[in-house]
Amino acid sequence: MLSQKSIQIIKSTVPLLEKYGVEITRLFYKNMFEAQPQLLNIFNHSNQRNQKQPVALANTILQSAIHIEKLNEINLMPIVHKHVALGITPEMYPIVGAHLLGAMKIVMQDEATPEIMAAWTEAYRAVAQAFMDAEEDLYFETEEQIGGWKDTREFVVDRIEEETPLIKSFYFKPLDCKEIATYIPGQYITVKITLQGDGVDVPTDKMRTYVRHYSLSDKPNDEHYRISVKKELGKNNTPNGIVSNHFHNVIKVGDIVPMSVPAGDFVVDNDSETPILLICGGVGINPLFSMLKETLVQQPDRKINFIFCTHSESTQPFKEELKQLEDDYKETGNLKINLVYSENQGHINKEIIEKYSTINVDESEIAETDVYICGPVPFMMQVNKDLLKLGYHKENVHYELFGPLTPVLEENQMLRGVKNIIEN
Ligand SMILES: Cc1cc2nc3c(=O)[nH]c(=O)nc-3n(C[C@H](O)[C@H](O)[C@H](O)COP(=O)(O)OP(=O)(O)OC[C@H]3O[C@@H](n4cnc5c(N)ncnc54)[C@H](O)[C@@H]3O)c2cc1C
Ligand code: HEM
Repeated sequence: MLSQKSIQIIKSTVPLLEKYGVEITRLFYKNMFEAQPQLLNIFNHSNQRNQKQPVALANTILQSAIHIEKLNEINLMPIVHKHVALGITPEMYPIVGAHLLGAMKIVMQDEATPEIMAAWTEAYRAVAQAFMDAEEDLYFETEEQIGGWKDTREFVVDRIEEETPLIKSFYFKPLDCKEIATYIPGQYITVKITLQGDGVDVPTDKMRTYVRHYSLSDKPNDEHYRISVKKELGKNNTPNGIVSNHFHNVIKVGDIVPMSVPAGDFVVDNDSETPILLICGGVGINPLFSMLKETLVQQPDRKINFIFCTHSESTQPFKEELKQLEDDYKETGNLKINLVYSENQGHINKEIIEKYSTINVDESEIAETDVYICGPVPFMMQVNKDLLKLGYHKENVHYELFGPLTPVLEENQMLRGVKNIIEN
């Protein structure tokens, strides 16, 4: 519990954090990686390069300062799930704390008075404790469940399917042939790929581990985990994505891939009976396709509208599976699958959403509809704006980001100047 004095001081630093937040977190990462190079193996360097991770951290610190007297009201769970997927341990918290507070002092200079530093030291301990407690619980749950495990477990690539020229599905079975943990549709697994240095960021005589999350794209089953990976091609002379190209160009049936247990709190609520609206763009279809398949099994009477936006038929994954679902559930009249090809219909807009989201639901049901969105950030921002105009309720709209978490749907809560960073 923080003292009243510290609470007041932390609140008074909100304008400073708005001003210096991203500068502090950028310096924090630079200094920490210099002092602790082994940590380079658990962070995603692309998220450092494009600044999304420093922004996500700065934003969380800002939110912690704003809500300091009711820390328990901040939803830490998306970060807790990421930390658990990455194997973050309590011993790492003092290292992060020392570098974070050190960076605050360097960036804020005289504005970082001894009182401010003392209050932030106390606050860091409180926030870190909240994370460590929640992470301990989640580690316990994930390890103790049937088929669960801690850290990494080795899986064998059992099958590879080409969904589109740029998306391949990989089916994994455990090397130990024992049971696998189930998951809630919407969750992701985290792969750890160790490669020889590329001679650019990492010397060629050194190895580097690349950690990446991939949403599970099939419904939960006892047999396999399926992920569907989009090959990231570099834009404007930038290098191609490391891990996705490794999956597409190198990984073959029989290869072994270490991964951590399914995690993530972007999950479908199959206890609710209200209509469900799933809106996805591009490879963002993966978590929503898992949700769609599982909801149809668990709740065949629930009304579902599925809107999938992609460039054209040639870029559409899961064609046959979608067709099969449409045929299987035609009789019920509850499922409507809507494909929006931008080459014919342009990008998604309010009219398209209105047309497809109300096919099998009444206007009176809109406010209670559960909405799940996944796709590129500008896509999700546009869809969210349109949904609110159409009467969908903010608290019923859930979204997944294929990158560091930032409150993309709540522009008023964003740190100044970061909109461009997260949109690109
Ligand atoms: C919760 C979650 C779920 C996800 N689910 C999926 C999924 O189901 N399917 C899927 O395909 N992906 C998914 N992702 C994204 C995935 O984790 C990876 O981020 C993605 O595959 C790209 O990784 P990469 O190693 O190939 O690219 P990286 O090497 O990380 O590169 C990322 C981007 O940065 C660019 N880049 C690289 N180097 C530079 C440079 N020097 N300068 C400028 N630009 C550069 C690359 O061209 C590329 O576009 C998910 C992410 C999260 C967080
Ligand atoms: C109170 C302390 C901490 C806060 C507020 C914090 C906050 C965050 C936030 C906001 C994210 C982004 C979540 C996302 O990617 O979706 C994140 C991710 C991450 N955190 Fe933490 N974190 C803390 C402690 C730690 C510690 C102790 C470690 C261990 C070194 C750590 C390692 C990571 C890693 C590796 C990621 C993923 C980043 C990436 O994608 O590169 N964090 N954290």
